[in-house]
Amino acid sequence: MITYQSVHVDSDSETLTAKLHEFHDAILRDHTHIIRVACALYEEKTDYLKTFIHSTRDGHAITAYQAKLSEVPSLNALAEHQECRVIDNVQLEIKPGTEHSDWLLDQGYVSSFTVPIYHHNRLIGFLFLDSDKSNAFSEQTQRQLLVKCNQIAEVVSCEVATARLLIATASAIRNVAGLRDFETGMHLTRMAEFSKLIAQNMPAKYGLNDEIIEHIYLFAPLHDIGKIGIPDAILLKKGKLTDEERQIMQAHVTKGVTIADQILENFGLLDLKTARIMRNIIACHHEYMDGSGYPKGVKGDEVPVEARIVTVADIFDALTHERPYKKPWSIPDALAELRKMVDLGKLDENCVNALASSMNDARFIVKEYNDS
Ligand SMILES: [Fe+2]
Ligand SMILES: [Fe+2]
Repeated sequence: MITYQSVHVDSDSETLTAKLHEFHDAILRDHTHIIRVACALYEEKTDYLKTFIHSTRDGHAITAYQAKLSEVPSLNALAEHQECRVIDNVQLEIKPGTEHSDWLLDQGYVSSFTVPIYHHNRLIGFLFLDSDKSNAFSEQTQRQLLVKCNQIAEVVSCEVATARLLIATASAIRNVAGLRDFETGMHLTRMAEFSKLIAQNMPAKYGLNDEIIEHIYLFAPLHDIGKIGIPDAILLKKGKLTDEERQIMQAHVTKGVTIADQILENFGLLDLKTARIMRNIIACHHEYMDGSGYPKGVKGDEVPVEARIVTVADIFDALTHERPYKKPWSIPDALAELRKMVDLGKLDENCVNALASSMNDARFIVKEYNDS
């Protein structure tokens, strides 16, 4: 039987987080006082700058944090002018008042160096290097660090560009195929948002860091890509499906995996760790924890956590929104239904708890991305 292995940052040496740790080691050889290197990712579509990867030797990392770039004037200016910034005395120059600056002041970092990074002239994000010494970033140090920063930027850009390429390819296929039922539009946006919300609130033992969460967020909307291979007569049928039609419909999972593998093979990306997140989501988003799902009937830990998260997000969205065969349910009713499915052994209780613990955000997503 094929098993699906979840991507785990601690054990996967090829994740960006692991690569950043290597870069940090190299930086520490010459600059022992640089105790943190982090990269925040910029999403043009939403204007959000989000925590992404970090290597923190001292202090507590800030994670699951995002802010609109346009609302952070200092960074916005750096991005616009393609300039780096040195802060020689963090405690004097940074004003408290935002979650990020309060955190920065708390850590006791004394000086910092910020570098915007680009890919083909488009802003990808920022690198932050922090030191426990004042005036740690002389011009000579900056020049030396910029070489390393460029290497990190190259690796991050390449990975981000790859994920975007996969998504763009999948969307192009979907558009060409005219997949136009309820799976389009806001459902996909909400799926991404609910999946991120759940992932961010999962217990620490799952090891879901910002890097993995970002990829779950990016790839969640591809879960049903295989539906492009299902005839409209079945895909759009209003009434109940016959047994035979249901079987054809369920084949969207294996068709999706075939499409994903073809894309990955064409681009030579079959070995890419983060692409495994995409594949796992597509392959296992209808599997249940008790083995009663399809297509393989894998169960428990064999169902990758990224798929369990997307499954809960998908069901929650289906329940809370109108579908050709049903009216939208209230959020409490939908949550009660998810709990029922946990009791039956189908859904991961941690995923449902994670969603339940962030109901205000869930309500916001339902309201913000409604279908009308
Ligand atoms: Fe599906
Ligand atoms: Fe869906």
